[in-house]
Amino acid sequence: TYVINEPCIATKDTSCVEVCPVDCIHPAPDEPGFEEHDQLYIDPEECIDCDACVEACPVDAITPEDMVPPEWQRFIAINAGYYQRT
Ligand code: SF4
Ligand code: F3S
Repeated sequence: TYVINEPCIATKDTSCVEVCPVDCIHPAPDEPGFEEHDQLYIDPEECIDCDACVEACPVDAITPEDMVPPEWQRFIAINAGYYQRT
């Protein structure tokens, strides 16, 4: 899967959504708990690792999961956690 990292927060360009062939990138819900992570999220179950979103993002927020830089490691769980909540 791919992961959306810190530069997306408050930027939310959404170019990634337009290029994703499986439509697996979704915005944060407008509800408590997401104030600090007002970004978009990639569904790890749906992402087909096509790489299209990486080039589309103007702030280079997206990386493959195994290439997330050390300072952004927490975003792996943040992305996955969004889809695991009930
Ligand atoms: Fe969508 Fe491809 Fe990006 Fe996965 S890698 S989120 S399938 S555009
Ligand atoms: Fe965020 Fe970049 Fe997509 S800023 S919404 S990951 S194009």
